[in-house]
Order: sequence, then C-alpha cells, then structure tokens
Amino acid sequence: MPANLKKSLSEIYERCQSLEGGAVADYIPELARVDPRLFAIAAVTTDGRLFELGDSDAAFTIQSTAKPFAYAAALREFGLESVLARVGVEPTGDDFNSISRLDRSKRPMNPMVNAGAISVCSMLHSAYGDTGEARLLEFFSDFAGEQLAVDSVTYASEMETTDGNRAIVYLLNKFRNLQAPPQAALDLYIKMCSIQTTVRGLATMGATLANQGMHPVRKRRVLEAAHVRDVLSVMLSCGMYNYAGQWVFDVGLPAKSGVSGAVLMIVPGVMAVCVYSPPLDGSGTSVRGIAACKELSQRHRLHLLDQTDLSIGEIND
Ligand code: DON
Repeated sequence: MPANLKKSLSEIYERCQSLEGGAVADYIPELARVDPRLFAIAAVTTDGRLFELGDSDAAFTIQSTAKPFAYAAALREFGLESVLARVGVEPTGDDFNSISRLDRSKRPMNPMVNAGAISVCSMLHSAYGDTGEARLLEFFSDFAGEQLAVDSVTYASEMETTDGNRAIVYLLNKFRNLQAPPQAALDLYIKMCSIQTTVRGLATMGATLANQGMHPVRKRRVLEAAHVRDVLSVMLSCGMYNYAGQWVFDVGLPAKSGVSGAVLMIVPGVMAVCVYSPPLDGSGTSVRGIAACKELSQRHRLHLLDQTDLSIGEIND
C-alpha cells in the first residue's frame, strides 16, 4: 500500500483539476446533460479503508466499467472454457463500438468491447431468463457492498439511440453467436451499462477484485480467485480499447473506462481507484481519469512490471 496515499491523492486531485480538454459523451443524450466540472476520486484498499475526494456523492451510470463484472458473472455461471468458446481475449486495437473486426472474426475478440460484452449478456440471459436484470444487480451489488439500481432515464435514453449496438447484436445473431433473442441480449447490456453508482461504489467493486474476490469490508467471497485472475487479465490487455498498449506501457495496471467519465484501476492485493470526470478523449476515456491514474501509478511505482519481488524459489538445473 503506497505510503501517504491520502496526500498523493489530494495532490493529484488538485493538479488534475486544472486539466481542461475533452468532451462529454453526447451520443447518449442523457450523458450530454451532465455537468462537465464534476470531479471525484475514491480509493478503497483491500483492508477496507476508503479515501475520497471531490464530488464523491455524484451518481453516474457505470457504462463500460460494468463489462469486467459481467464477464465475471459469465465465468462464474459457465466456467472459463465455455465462455472462451464464445468470446476471445485478444485486444482489437479498434474503437469500443467497432463492428469491422466482428464481421471478419465472427467471434468477439474480447469481453471489454461492446461486441464481446453483448455476447456475454446473451449468455447471462440464457442462464437467468427474465430475472437477468435482478440477478446482475444482485451480483454487482455484492461487489459494491450496497444495493445498486438501474438509472431508468439513462437506460431509456441509450435505448433510443443505440443503433450501433443493435447492428452488433444482429450481426452476432447472424453468426449464431448469440445465446438469447437479440432484443433480450441488447436490453440486458444497456441495463447493465445504466446501473448507477458513485466513485465509492465503483472503487469498492474494484477493491473486491483487488482482494482476490473477497469483499474488503464484508469479508464475503463474491468471486473465485481463479476467475478474478481472468477478469484482471482482460482488463489489463483490453480494458482501455485502442489505447490499451499505451496504458499498459505508462500505467501497467488492469483498468476499465466508461463513457460516463469513470476510470476504474485495480492495484492487485492493494486497492482499487476510481476517478470520475465526464470530459473524454478520442478513445472515450476520461481525460482527468487517465492523468490521475497515470500519476498515481508512476509516483508509487505501481506498474506491475516495476515489481521486483517475484520469487519462484530455488532453481535447480
Ligand atoms: O454501449 C455503449 O455505447 C455504452 N453503453 C457503453 C460504452 C462505454 O462506456 C465505452 N467506454 N469507454
């Protein structure tokens, strides 16, 4: 755990506050109405301590930061082999909503892009049926340690404008890679993106991953450690889409962005950090979110490849 985490976070918060640039997502009309000045950071450690700064009571929809948790639900429900048969683990290098690679590969490249997450939602619908929304909410709430709910206004707003995702879901259906009727899979996906939380809630969800699947405060297991490893692996390689390579290079930690302006970063065994600031860069990631995570990682040498204490015991020749 970084020494002086509190001091670091407040210095980083102050510095990032002067960062301008980026634009609030407007392809979902409801997201365009948000105040771009909102800015909050929360860190939750694996031993259950919470540090929060700024507008930490501001509620936002989790959008794509939901994808690692949906993937977790699918791993738990179906096991790794069955999930891998439907969705790969390779980064695309494309935008999160791109359809072009799916057209060639037929099977979504990874569960962090929209095609993969929609495929995952179709699997979940096949397991949960009409209770899909309630079951996902229950699972996500177990990660958060509080009852979460869907923001029905943002859900309706995205449903009206989500032709790109509609194209993806029908393409998946055409390739026979959908486990539920297209409308049902899409509906569960958009509902999951519209789950509402705060930086506290999302950082706590992340801290459960950082803590090998054990909720850091309730001390209750939410996910098997083996599945946590798989979730964190795809977050590391694919969580930041077409920016994933630069992210691993600069920051070196599993993370996920969402178009509402949230960035969730996991420091395995230590903590999770959630930054919320709505203006986004060209890859759909919060400008301040990237800057704050990058600075925190570099200040405290959190990059996974900066770790020098890996030990494999005695080596015999
Ligand atoms: O499917 C969509 O377009 C949104 N509900 C989620 C996209 C998203 O958050 C991309 N991440 N940066």
